[in-house]
Amino acid sequence: MPDESTRAAAWQRLAALAARPGAGRITPLFAADPMRAAHFSRALDDLTLDFSKTPIGPETLAALLDLAHAGGVEDFRARLFAGAAVNATERRAAMHMALRAPDGVDLRADLPEGSEDAAGLARAERARMRAFVHAVHDGTLRGATGLPFQNVLNIGIGGSDLGPRMAVHALTMVGGARVGAHFLSNVDGHAFAALARVLDPARTLVLVASKTFTTAETMMNAAAARAWIAAALGEAAVGAHFAALSTNARGVAAFGIAPERMFGFRDWVGGRYSLWSAIGLSIALAAGWEAFSDMLRGAWAMDCHFRDTPLADNLPVLLALVGIWDVNFLRRDARVVLGYDERLALLPAYLQQLEMESNGKSVTLDGAAAAHATCPVVFGGPGTDVQHSYGQMLHQGTTVVPIDYILAAEPDHDRVEAHRALAANAFAQAEALLRGRTEEEARAAMLASGMDAAEAARLAPHRRFAGERPSIMILFRRLDAFSLGRLIALYEHKVAVQGCLWRINSFDQWGVELGKELATALLPALQPGADPGAHDGSTTALIRRFRQLRGEG
Ligand code: F6P
Repeated sequence: MPDESTRAAAWQRLAALAARPGAGRITPLFAADPMRAAHFSRALDDLTLDFSKTPIGPETLAALLDLAHAGGVEDFRARLFAGAAVNATERRAAMHMALRAPDGVDLRADLPEGSEDAAGLARAERARMRAFVHAVHDGTLRGATGLPFQNVLNIGIGGSDLGPRMAVHALTMVGGARVGAHFLSNVDGHAFAALARVLDPARTLVLVASKTFTTAETMMNAAAARAWIAAALGEAAVGAHFAALSTNARGVAAFGIAPERMFGFRDWVGGRYSLWSAIGLSIALAAGWEAFSDMLRGAWAMDCHFRDTPLADNLPVLLALVGIWDVNFLRRDARVVLGYDERLALLPAYLQQLEMESNGKSVTLDGAAAAHATCPVVFGGPGTDVQHSYGQMLHQGTTVVPIDYILAAEPDHDRVEAHRALAANAFAQAEALLRGRTEEEARAAMLASGMDAAEAARLAPHRRFAGERPSIMILFRRLDAFSLGRLIALYEHKVAVQGCLWRINSFDQWGVELGKELATALLPALQPGADPGAHDGSTTALIRRFRQLRGEG
């Protein structure tokens, strides 16, 4: 159990360490320890987490681990895997690990009415999904006109979109897709219009992916897709072209999707943890059942590592502690994730939801205002592209933004030199951010290139880099379904550990719920001639202006 006084003492100790002169500096730590790279790296099989380029020395690491022990990470981890209701505000377990538990593993979720065989239920649903995927692939299951399905259209938003979209992109970019996968999330009609232009309804399978089956955007888009199929193929064709991925059997039935076309999961799977469940059907359809299974295996490998490894060698725990040192003690309120891999282009968007929806909270579990900062702003993109956009700010901006670099050692293409160049960029960026360049070095380099002394002196301050900018490196052999699953689970558990130490509930999202309510309430005000309703002055004026611009007064 968390011990409040030791926890507070560990927190104070870290604050004292952070207040020491030069606490944010990294290069002195390398100078003090020639083996620093080894001492501040940990591995799980081929996956290495190198956090030596962070301002964490032996004392700080020890204090961070004290915080993890005193903050109850081990107890939290045990409760998480035991299926306890760690999502306290919704009284739910967070049992996404059960979705990837292999045969023979018993994982149960506590429900108010008793314990549920979470792993067993997940396995049974996976068997149904597998049969469905094979039937689509071998053409046993076809559209209403008898044509095989060429495309799948996943309609969902948030966790019912970002995970599958990211994984499909990562796993099909090189080898191609078994079935073309398309994703519709935004209620903006342009998104559906663009898809309707390129998809052939007779060859399209529509997956309505919604845990609740009530999300307004998804329901509106699903109705549009239904009308699109019905208009092209007739009302009777709808059943053959739809499947639902949801926990809400009643809602699915009311929409008109038959029970055998519904793939379910339970509410102990949070939306942003649902790509491993039925919500991942588009991944299995596009990348193949083998790839989907491998992704689950990779995640389970990380689950076992997280569950069984002492905190000092535990990758998710260390990743979490690096972030806590940055946010809470060095006041670095943003974090950037740079996958040096085009296949990971959608990973930052996925992680934004995972991290910011989970830990973007300011109230602790006991209902009090959080006394310290929680989730940083997370953003990111693919390297090397980012180097040519906001990379400038990372090097010379006034805000220090810690970076997660992610890199696979082996490519899945045969342009070996291109991959070497990619890796060289990742390593060189991290090195440059760490080392920086003094004005003197900049001036000397310009003089060496033949520049005259006055010009070199004028430019030197602009070409100075402060250095001491932190980054971590996540390096593994190849990006495949297994390593992708492992990588995602690494971040999932990192987020959970941070939530535990911040004493917030990482598994609810009441802020999003407010947005949903307000949009529904405001919609009538946008009807022609409607009373704009009671809003702040700006909103009322914007409603009027919107209607004016549309000629609807
Ligand atoms: O964005 C809020 C949220 O509740 C997410 O947690 C969830 O992933 C998303 O909406 C979609 O919800 P649903 O799957 O129920 O449509």
